[in-house]
Amino acid sequence: MSEANEALWLLNVRGGFEVRTSAHPTAGPGQVVVRVRAVAVNPVDAIVGPFRRLVTPWMRYPTVIGSDVAGEIAAVGVGVTRFQAGDRVVGYAAGQERLRNNSEEGGFQRYVTVLERVCAELPEDVTFEQAAVLPLGVSTAAAGLYEKDQLALPLPTSSPSPRGDVVLVWGGSTSVGSNAVQLARASGYTVIATAGRRNHDFVRSLGAEAIFDYRDPDVDQQIVEALGHRHLAGTMAIGAGSLTHALHIVGRTTGTNNIASAYPDPLTRVRSFLARARGIRVTSIWGGTPVQSPRRAGHLPGLPSVRTQAPDNSGRHPIRESSGSAWSRCPGL
Ligand SMILES: NC(=O)c1ccc[n+]([C@@H]2O[C@H](COP(=O)([O-])OP(=O)(O)OC[C@H]3O[C@@H](n4cnc5c(N)ncnc54)[C@H](OP(=O)(O)O)[C@@H]3O)[C@@H](O)[C@H]2O)c1
Repeated sequence: MSEANEALWLLNVRGGFEVRTSAHPTAGPGQVVVRVRAVAVNPVDAIVGPFRRLVTPWMRYPTVIGSDVAGEIAAVGVGVTRFQAGDRVVGYAAGQERLRNNSEEGGFQRYVTVLERVCAELPEDVTFEQAAVLPLGVSTAAAGLYEKDQLALPLPTSSPSPRGDVVLVWGGSTSVGSNAVQLARASGYTVIATAGRRNHDFVRSLGAEAIFDYRDPDVDQQIVEALGHRHLAGTMAIGAGSLTHALHIVGRTTGTNNIASAYPDPLTRVRSFLARARGIRVTSIWGGTPVQSPRRAGHLPGLPSVRTQAPDNSGRHPIRESSGSAWSRCPGL
């Protein structure tokens, strides 16, 4: 690692970024250092000011943000056996997580420390740019669909048996939603989704049975009619205004009244409390208390050609198994 490290520093909670030379991160036990070749920018990266305080109140400044990286392994820490220097990988940079909270693990830099268990080897035919968009989208979708305090659906498999019930993915064309559509299909569900018209073919190609434009004034009614008498197994509410629509639809259909909301709206908790009186359970893929859990090897669901490992005997999924929080998406944080 003779090359200098450079990072995009977020100077304070009010915003203001600066590119600076930085110390080389190190790989502790169970960690790797990745030479970053591509990053993805997520909506959360643009949040500064009071909302940033609300989202990551624990964060110390200056810091390096950024969650999604792809690149090559530059160094491995003690106990890391799955990777060696030069391997092409994609990883979730956990620096913004509450119990990690450090700039060495922020993705927007040339060299970043990543937990081995949320790092996956890249097949040769997947570029760094293609892979870098996956970690936050996959892990948020998986958290909403599978965590036991969220929708708690059965885990995906490569040859799922059809279940008949329907998963509604509001925001099916978003990064989170497009992963949710594929994962729900891989769990055997029929998927109904929303997307802008230009993305209907795209979302259909991911496996959704029917797609509705979230801008149509009567979109809720269209979805209720498409569901007919079928049961809803769960609803993922992604994007601005999604919870309002999801509550409206779930209140008029049969099945489990569970909604996992990925929209970072401070009102979500209030609305989830109020919805309880109507028998609707809303959980937030946001905040919360990370639960310690044993270390396991990581894999990225939704990227089948990446070398993966089966869930362990507990049936829990290796990538993310902590709390109802995408901010604690790495086990044992
Ligand atoms: N809680 C968490 O841990 C967590 C983690 C990641 C993301 N999120 C949140 O999840 C949401 C999606 O993030 P992302 O990175 O997946 O987004 P993204 O990939 O940037 O999504 C962009 C797409 O969102 C769609 N969209 C815009 N307004 C919408 C609305 N009101 N309802 C439904 N879809 C809408 C548009 O689709 P069309 O072009 O088809 O119109 C647009 O192309 C954001 O609100 C983000 O903050 C939460």
